[in-house]
Amino acid sequence: MVFIKTASAFALLSTLASTAPTSTPIYPPYSNSESFNLIANVTSGDLSPSINGWGLTSYHTGAGTAYAVLSPSSPRIFYANGTAEEIRYNSGNILSDEGTPLFPGGLVINAPTTSTPSEVSLSVNAGVGTSNVGITHFPDPVNTLYALGGEGFYACERVPFPGAQSAVMVFQTQSEGVPAGCAEVVFLPQCSEGSGAVHPTGAVSGCYADVAAIDWSIYYSS
Ligand SMILES: *[C@@H]1O[C@H](CO)[C@@H](O)[C@H](O)[C@H]1NC(C)=O
Ligand SMILES: *[C@@H]1O[C@H](CO)[C@@H](O)[C@H](O)[C@H]1NC(C)=O
Repeated sequence: MVFIKTASAFALLSTLASTAPTSTPIYPPYSNSESFNLIANVTSGDLSPSINGWGLTSYHTGAGTAYAVLSPSSPRIFYANGTAEEIRYNSGNILSDEGTPLFPGGLVINAPTTSTPSEVSLSVNAGVGTSNVGITHFPDPVNTLYALGGEGFYACERVPFPGAQSAVMVFQTQSEGVPAGCAEVVFLPQCSEGSGAVHPTGAVSGCYADVAAIDWSIYYSS
Protein backbone atom coordinates (compact mmCIF):
# COMPACT_ATOMS: atom_id res chain seq x y z
CA MET A 1 0.00 0.00 0.00
CA VAL A 2 1.26 3.40 -0.96
CA PHE A 3 1.11 4.79 2.55
CA ILE A 4 3.22 2.12 4.17
CA LYS A 5 5.90 2.57 1.54
CA THR A 6 6.17 6.31 2.07
CA ALA A 7 5.88 6.01 5.84
CA SER A 8 8.70 3.48 6.05
CA ALA A 9 10.89 5.56 3.74
CA PHE A 10 10.35 8.47 6.10
CA ALA A 11 11.26 6.41 9.16
CA LEU A 12 14.48 5.25 7.49
CA LEU A 13 15.41 8.76 6.43
CA SER A 14 14.76 10.16 9.88
CA THR A 15 17.27 7.67 11.26
CA LEU A 16 19.84 8.53 8.61
CA ALA A 17 19.34 12.24 9.14
CA SER A 18 19.93 11.99 12.88
CA THR A 19 23.20 10.09 12.48
CA ALA A 20 24.54 11.96 9.45
CA PRO A 21 23.87 15.68 9.71
CA THR A 22 24.11 17.42 6.37
CA SER A 23 23.47 20.88 5.00
CA THR A 24 21.83 19.40 1.89
CA PRO A 25 18.05 19.19 2.07
CA ILE A 26 16.95 15.59 1.90
CA TYR A 27 13.48 16.24 0.50
CA PRO A 28 12.58 18.39 -2.47
CA PRO A 29 11.22 21.79 -1.41
CA TYR A 30 7.55 22.40 -2.14
CA SER A 31 4.98 25.14 -1.89
CA ASN A 32 1.24 25.07 -1.36
CA SER A 33 -1.58 25.48 -3.81
CA GLU A 34 -5.16 24.36 -4.22
CA SER A 35 -4.65 23.50 -7.91
CA PHE A 36 -2.08 21.13 -9.32
CA ASN A 37 -1.28 18.86 -12.22
CA LEU A 38 -0.39 15.23 -11.49
CA ILE A 39 2.98 14.43 -13.06
CA ALA A 40 4.19 10.85 -13.48
CA ASN A 41 7.59 10.04 -11.97
CA VAL A 42 8.69 6.63 -13.23
CA THR A 43 10.10 4.47 -10.45
CA SER A 44 10.37 1.11 -12.24
CA GLY A 45 10.29 0.12 -15.91
CA ASP A 46 9.18 2.63 -18.55
CA LEU A 47 7.23 2.68 -21.78
CA SER A 48 8.44 3.71 -25.22
CA PRO A 49 8.44 6.65 -25.65
CA SER A 50 9.25 7.36 -22.01
CA ILE A 51 6.29 8.57 -20.00
CA ASN A 52 8.46 10.05 -17.26
CA GLY A 53 7.24 13.60 -16.65
CA TRP A 54 3.93 13.14 -18.52
CA GLY A 55 0.79 14.53 -16.95
CA LEU A 56 -2.49 12.87 -16.02
CA THR A 57 -5.37 13.86 -18.25
CA SER A 58 -8.54 12.25 -19.52
CA TYR A 59 -9.62 10.51 -22.72
CA HIS A 60 -13.35 10.77 -23.20
CA THR A 61 -15.24 7.56 -23.75
CA GLY A 62 -18.81 8.81 -23.28
CA ALA A 63 -20.93 11.53 -21.73
CA GLY A 64 -19.19 12.40 -18.46
CA THR A 65 -16.88 9.38 -18.57
CA ALA A 66 -13.19 9.26 -19.46
CA TYR A 67 -10.20 7.01 -18.95
CA ALA A 68 -7.37 8.56 -16.95
CA VAL A 69 -4.43 8.64 -19.35
CA LEU A 70 -0.97 10.13 -19.47
CA SER A 71 -0.08 12.68 -22.08
CA PRO A 72 3.05 14.75 -22.77
CA SER A 73 0.98 17.95 -22.99
CA SER A 74 -2.14 19.61 -21.57
CA PRO A 75 -2.30 17.95 -18.15
CA ARG A 76 -5.60 18.32 -16.31
CA ILE A 77 -5.93 20.61 -13.31
CA PHE A 78 -6.86 18.74 -10.12
CA TYR A 79 -7.47 19.67 -6.50
CA ALA A 80 -8.00 17.77 -3.26
CA ASN A 81 -11.54 18.10 -1.92
CA GLY A 82 -12.81 17.58 1.61
CA THR A 83 -13.25 19.18 5.00
CA ALA A 84 -10.08 19.84 7.02
CA GLU A 85 -10.81 16.69 8.99
CA GLU A 86 -11.35 14.56 5.87
CA ILE A 87 -8.07 15.77 4.39
CA ARG A 88 -6.23 15.15 7.63
CA TYR A 89 -7.59 11.60 7.96
CA ASN A 90 -7.15 10.81 4.25
CA SER A 91 -10.84 10.39 3.46
CA GLY A 92 -11.20 13.17 0.88
CA ASN A 93 -11.29 12.86 -2.90
CA ILE A 94 -9.51 14.33 -5.93
CA LEU A 95 -11.55 16.50 -8.27
CA SER A 96 -11.14 18.39 -11.51
CA ASP A 97 -13.44 20.83 -13.32
CA GLU A 98 -15.00 20.13 -16.68
CA GLY A 99 -17.77 21.31 -18.99
CA THR A 100 -19.43 24.70 -19.56
CA PRO A 101 -20.38 25.93 -17.04
CA LEU A 102 -17.76 24.10 -14.99
CA PHE A 103 -18.87 21.11 -12.90
CA PRO A 104 -16.80 18.63 -10.89
CA GLY A 105 -15.27 15.49 -12.34
CA GLY A 106 -13.70 13.07 -9.87
CA LEU A 107 -10.72 10.77 -10.06
CA VAL A 108 -12.27 7.30 -9.94
CA ILE A 109 -10.66 4.00 -9.06
CA ASN A 110 -12.90 1.57 -10.91
CA ALA A 111 -14.21 -1.68 -9.49
CA PRO A 112 -12.15 -4.80 -10.26
CA THR A 113 -13.27 -7.05 -13.09
CA THR A 114 -13.09 -10.85 -13.04
CA SER A 115 -10.43 -10.84 -15.78
CA THR A 116 -8.06 -8.57 -13.83
CA PRO A 117 -9.05 -8.91 -10.15
CA SER A 118 -5.87 -7.34 -8.76
CA GLU A 119 -5.75 -4.45 -11.22
CA VAL A 120 -8.26 -1.70 -11.77
CA SER A 121 -8.35 1.16 -14.21
CA LEU A 122 -8.59 4.84 -13.33
CA SER A 123 -11.17 7.22 -14.75
CA VAL A 124 -12.03 10.89 -14.51
CA ASN A 125 -15.84 10.87 -14.46
CA ALA A 126 -18.42 13.57 -13.90
CA GLY A 127 -19.32 13.44 -10.20
CA VAL A 128 -17.62 12.88 -6.91
CA GLY A 129 -14.83 10.41 -7.55
CA THR A 130 -13.48 7.80 -5.16
CA SER A 131 -12.99 8.63 -1.48
CA ASN A 132 -9.74 7.99 0.39
CA VAL A 133 -7.75 9.34 -2.52
CA GLY A 134 -5.60 12.41 -1.97
CA ILE A 135 -2.18 14.01 -1.73
CA THR A 136 0.09 12.88 1.12
CA HIS A 137 0.73 15.61 3.67
CA PHE A 138 2.53 16.33 6.92
CA PRO A 139 4.22 14.39 8.51
CA ASP A 140 4.98 12.74 5.16
CA PRO A 141 7.86 14.81 3.76
CA VAL A 142 7.05 14.12 0.11
CA ASN A 143 3.74 15.05 -1.52
CA THR A 144 2.41 12.30 -3.78
CA LEU A 145 -0.94 11.00 -4.94
CA TYR A 146 -2.18 8.15 -2.76
CA ALA A 147 -5.21 5.90 -2.87
CA LEU A 148 -5.82 3.82 0.22
CA GLY A 149 -6.10 0.08 -0.27
CA GLY A 150 -3.67 -0.29 -3.12
CA GLU A 151 -0.11 -1.06 -4.08
CA GLY A 152 0.49 1.78 -6.46
CA PHE A 153 -0.08 3.30 -9.86
CA TYR A 154 1.07 1.90 -13.17
CA ALA A 155 1.06 3.29 -16.69
CA CYS A 156 0.23 0.61 -19.26
CA GLU A 157 -0.21 0.53 -23.00
CA ARG A 158 -3.45 -1.38 -22.75
CA VAL A 159 -6.06 0.39 -24.82
CA PRO A 160 -5.36 1.84 -28.23
CA PHE A 161 -6.30 5.49 -28.39
CA PRO A 162 -6.34 6.58 -32.04
CA GLY A 163 -4.23 9.66 -32.56
CA ALA A 164 -3.40 10.02 -28.88
CA GLN A 165 0.05 9.43 -27.48
CA SER A 166 -1.07 8.11 -24.16
CA ALA A 167 -0.85 5.31 -21.65
CA VAL A 168 -3.87 4.23 -19.66
CA MET A 169 -3.50 4.23 -15.90
CA VAL A 170 -4.12 1.24 -13.70
CA PHE A 171 -4.01 0.77 -9.95
CA GLN A 172 -3.00 -2.50 -8.32
CA THR A 173 -4.73 -3.80 -5.23
CA GLN A 174 -2.43 -6.76 -4.49
CA SER A 175 1.34 -6.92 -4.29
CA GLU A 176 2.20 -8.57 -7.60
CA GLY A 177 5.13 -6.51 -8.87
CA VAL A 178 4.98 -4.29 -11.92
CA PRO A 179 2.32 -5.67 -14.31
CA ALA A 180 3.67 -6.83 -17.69
CA GLY A 181 3.97 -4.03 -20.22
CA CYS A 182 3.57 -1.35 -17.56
CA ALA A 183 5.74 1.23 -15.83
CA GLU A 184 5.42 1.86 -12.11
CA VAL A 185 4.83 5.53 -11.46
CA VAL A 186 4.44 7.87 -8.53
CA PHE A 187 2.34 10.96 -9.15
CA LEU A 188 3.76 14.23 -7.91
CA PRO A 189 1.55 17.30 -7.71
CA GLN A 190 2.93 20.21 -9.72
CA CYS A 191 1.51 23.59 -8.63
CA SER A 192 -0.78 25.10 -11.23
CA GLU A 193 -3.19 27.94 -11.88
CA GLY A 194 -6.81 27.18 -11.01
CA SER A 195 -9.58 26.47 -13.51
CA GLY A 196 -11.46 29.63 -12.52
CA ALA A 197 -14.10 27.76 -10.54
CA VAL A 198 -14.48 28.40 -6.80
CA HIS A 199 -14.25 25.27 -4.63
CA PRO A 200 -15.82 25.74 -1.17
CA THR A 201 -14.14 22.60 0.19
CA GLY A 202 -11.02 22.70 -2.00
CA ALA A 203 -7.97 21.94 0.18
CA VAL A 204 -4.48 23.34 -0.03
CA SER A 205 -1.97 20.68 -1.08
CA GLY A 206 1.81 20.63 -1.05
CA CYS A 207 3.05 20.81 -4.65
CA TYR A 208 6.26 21.18 -6.61
CA ALA A 209 7.08 24.08 -8.92
CA ASP A 210 8.61 21.87 -11.62
CA VAL A 211 8.55 18.11 -11.12
CA ALA A 212 10.82 17.41 -14.12
CA ALA A 213 13.51 19.67 -12.63
CA ILE A 214 13.77 17.69 -9.38
CA ASP A 215 17.17 16.02 -9.21
CA TRP A 216 16.33 12.96 -7.11
CA SER A 217 20.00 12.01 -6.78
CA ILE A 218 20.53 14.83 -4.27
CA TYR A 219 17.49 13.79 -2.23
CA TYR A 220 16.69 10.36 -0.98
CA SER A 221 16.72 7.23 -3.09
CA SER A 222 13.65 5.08 -2.61
C1 LIG B 1 11.09 9.74 -8.75
O1 LIG B 1 11.83 8.92 -9.63
C2 LIG B 1 13.21 8.80 -9.31
C3 LIG B 1 13.83 7.95 -10.41
O2 LIG B 1 13.19 6.70 -10.49
C4 LIG B 1 13.36 8.17 -7.93
O3 LIG B 1 14.73 8.12 -7.58
C5 LIG B 1 12.60 9.01 -6.91
O4 LIG B 1 12.64 8.36 -5.66
C6 LIG B 1 11.16 9.16 -7.35
N1 LIG B 1 10.45 10.04 -6.40
C7 LIG B 1 9.46 9.59 -5.65
C8 LIG B 1 8.83 10.61 -4.73
O5 LIG B 1 9.06 8.44 -5.68
C1 LIG C 1 -16.30 17.83 -1.60
O1 LIG C 1 -16.18 17.60 -0.20
C2 LIG C 1 -17.32 18.05 0.54
C3 LIG C 1 -16.99 17.89 2.01
O2 LIG C 1 -16.88 16.53 2.35
C4 LIG C 1 -18.53 17.24 0.13
O3 LIG C 1 -19.68 17.72 0.81
C5 LIG C 1 -18.76 17.39 -1.38
O4 LIG C 1 -19.79 16.52 -1.79
C6 LIG C 1 -17.49 17.03 -2.14
N1 LIG C 1 -17.71 17.39 -3.54
C7 LIG C 1 -17.55 16.49 -4.52
C8 LIG C 1 -17.95 16.94 -5.88
O5 LIG C 1 -17.11 15.39 -4.33
